[in-house]
Amino acid sequence: MSATVVIGAQWGDEGKGKIVDLLADRSDVVVRFQGGNNAGHTIVTDDETYKLHVIPSGILSPGTLCVIGNGTVVDPGGLCTEIDQLQARDIDLSGLRLSGNCHLIMPYHVMLDGAAEMKLGRFSIGTTRRGIGPCYQDKAARVGIRAQDLLDPKILVRKLEIALEAKNEVLEKLYDAPRLDPAAVAEEQLAYAERLKPFIADTSLLIDQAITGGRSVLFEGAQGTMLDIDHGTYPFVTSSNPIAGAACTGAGVGPTRISRVLGVAKAYVTRVGEGPFPTELDDAIGEQITTRGKEFGTTTGRQRRSGWLDLVALRYAVRLSGITELALTKLDVLSGFPTVRVCQEYETRDGERLREMPYHQTVFHGCRPVYTDLPGWEDDIEGCRERSALPAAARDYVDAIGDALGIPVTLIGTGQGREDVIQQPDAPPAS
Ligand code: GDP
Ligand code: IMO
Ligand code: MG
Repeated sequence: MSATVVIGAQWGDEGKGKIVDLLADRSDVVVRFQGGNNAGHTIVTDDETYKLHVIPSGILSPGTLCVIGNGTVVDPGGLCTEIDQLQARDIDLSGLRLSGNCHLIMPYHVMLDGAAEMKLGRFSIGTTRRGIGPCYQDKAARVGIRAQDLLDPKILVRKLEIALEAKNEVLEKLYDAPRLDPAAVAEEQLAYAERLKPFIADTSLLIDQAITGGRSVLFEGAQGTMLDIDHGTYPFVTSSNPIAGAACTGAGVGPTRISRVLGVAKAYVTRVGEGPFPTELDDAIGEQITTRGKEFGTTTGRQRRSGWLDLVALRYAVRLSGITELALTKLDVLSGFPTVRVCQEYETRDGERLREMPYHQTVFHGCRPVYTDLPGWEDDIEGCRERSALPAAARDYVDAIGDALGIPVTLIGTGQGREDVIQQPDAPPAS
């Protein structure tokens, strides 16, 4: 039995797509378990760049079952577009499955997301405006529309009528936005339903059968630990739980079925959207990292904020997800800096040193990073595939991170391409 959860250990965009694509080659099933098309997972092959939003990153590995689990929120129109785009590039989608229990992002969710952000003005969260928050809100309020509703037009129309009765009031009265006609929304969704029906399945059962049959299953997280709705930098978070435990609820598997948790972290940190970021660099070095790392959002194209590696936040991620090993991506981006810094501790406004993430937001907002400086390396390491070929300072940097976290670094990213990676012998999933 081999079930590995891959999660983002920072603020998202750690390179999960690339890592999942790599491991998918040795996996039978890849499952997305939370988030929606707020995610943008990039895979760069020899001559193509793929940007996946809700379809699992195993889709480029022929024969892999790719499951969109019940914990995700799915925009039917967005999913159809993603399917079309992949089909136009001759990608086989016969292995795609969609949980009948996942909640659907309706046009009013997208409108409400945008309107709420506008209203918040300078207090906005900087969401991707894909309707993620409003859709999860409806799920919790038990007025959501689920994929299985697409299979029964009568139920779909009735549910849309009920939902829109309230939504239209909010759209019109609170946000001065146009009302939506339930019949028109239903008609549009039913057109998507025709296309999505063949993919809808009991995905929890499929995953269980795969694990029981000794097949290798990967769970692909979206976003990152610090964007977790419970444990992240609330309210500057997403509306789901990107930590490993969510793979169980979001895919319908028990915790005893999971054997490994692979955290993915950049060799530095980026964040897109608003919210606190202790190691953020708003200087020339930050700009250099952003430019060299091509740090522009996969989904929204927004420029990402960059900073040095934050070990306090990473230690927190290891704790929250029980991370057993780390994939450290984008090490190549740090080449050429005379010194590379890692934040080992925070210093609070009162001068107290913290090794662990403070639970209170006021303390966290006042924290300043305490850095250890490590020697940098000059050589370009892009495309390096052997650890022994790395400059000694780069190896020491990786080892310092593994030592500080108490877990092995089993994968090291050295470039955008799917082959640009150093793999340690025990890289998951081990057979
Ligand atoms: P995800 O959301 O975690 O899948 O990450 P994104 O795809 O949004 O952002 C990561 C970006 O870094 C993408 O453009 C990847 O192609 C790129 N990337 C991933 N790993 C590496 C690496 O090791 N080196 C470099 N230079 N780029 C990488
Ligand atoms: P991947 O899977 C980075 C951020 C948004 C915003 C906050 C809330 O590619 O790593 P939302 O639209 O989810 O309500 O926005 O979360 N965010 C991400 N940041 N990577 C992502 O996904 C993200 N998905 C959402 O920028 O700050
Ligand atoms: Mg991304």
